Amino acid sequence: AYPNLSPRPPMGWNNWSYYMCDINEKVVLDNARALVRSGLARQGYRTVTVDDCWMSRQRGPKGELTADRTKFPHGMAYLGRQLHALGLKFGIYEDVGTLTCEKYPGSLGHFQQDAELFARWKVDYVKADGCNVPVAPGHSKEETYRDLYGQMSRALRATGRPITFSVSAPAYFQFDGDSVWHRVIGWSAEVGNLWRGGRDVALQKSTPAAKWSSIVYNFRYNARLAGLQRPGRWNDPDFLLAGDTGLTAREMQSQMSLWAMMAAPLISSTDVGSLSPAARKVLGNKEVIAVDQDALGVQGDLVRQDDGSAVLAKPLKNGDRAIALFNSGDAPRTLSVTAAAAGLPAAGSYRLHDLVTGRRTHSDDTIVAREVPPHSTVLYRVTPE
Ligand code: GLA
Repeated sequence: AYPNLSPRPPMGWNNWSYYMCDINEKVVLDNARALVRSGLARQGYRTVTVDDCWMSRQRGPKGELTADRTKFPHGMAYLGRQLHALGLKFGIYEDVGTLTCEKYPGSLGHFQQDAELFARWKVDYVKADGCNVPVAPGHSKEETYRDLYGQMSRALRATGRPITFSVSAPAYFQFDGDSVWHRVIGWSAEVGNLWRGGRDVALQKSTPAAKWSSIVYNFRYNARLAGLQRPGRWNDPDFLLAGDTGLTAREMQSQMSLWAMMAAPLISSTDVGSLSPAARKVLGNKEVIAVDQDALGVQGDLVRQDDGSAVLAKPLKNGDRAIALFNSGDAPRTLSVTAAAAGLPAAGSYRLHDLVTGRRTHSDDTIVAREVPPHSTVLYRVTPE
């Protein structure tokens, strides 16, 4: 298997959902500096990934990838040096097909050459997309993807540089039926460290309703995959939208809490320099980040769900349990879970720490219940007494 380079879910920033192709050196470095200045880097948001559209349309004379010099006048090695000087890590986007999703040169046929170039640029993280994959004659779609991701994985590994590998393959099989994408996740976890599933979260320019429903969709999709994740091999339900316009503070917090319950990668995609205090608070909530990054590395289980709600429980290293009560509906709702169903010793008393409000309470009850506002998630750390 690919080396275990991220014993905790990766954390960082990526330009895609906020800036899409409208990127350049200044945008990336301004966001990088803002991560440092805001303290978010210190809290773990350290891998800065340049997504699609950083390249020239054509490879160079030796077949090498080149940066778009208008967008990145000093080149990518320079960008990496600047990020490293800030104490950050350098991530870059490619694709295992002939072209990226935005039709820049893909890696197919150049895996070793590209991996060596990334290693020379001191890249720490590669996100490999799966657009424009020509299915090899006599092979199935799945065999083709498996072969190409395997090639890129081996090429990265052969460089000798530890490069965290983010695989997008499962996202390209999400409508092919459960047994197929379960299998695809199985081999994605062999060739890489994390993998995308579900759809892309809504872009900055989308409507507020589309943003919220994309969060709910990816949550529901990803929550079912708990059994396929293990420490160092992470399901990735896509970017955190906190900071984006159109989401309420509750919605942002809800996404953050749910992603933490799923031990999901925490990858912000926004303009970090102009985060509202509310968004800064959401992304930087220490206790919620600790649930995400907990050393057990377990994705929380769905205890129960219906059309408008979900309850999750997640074991934590120190013996506590995290419990989330998610109300995706438009009216307040009382949600509850029994201690036993959440995996707590049944006949006991508990300390409840609400990780969003900070409120600490005590309960002798065998049921954890709360009225949850619309589009909100209550997140407790529960300590048996
Ligand atoms: C796909 C990915 C996105 C982003 C774009 C770039 O849609 O899922 O995260 O990388 O491609 O073109």
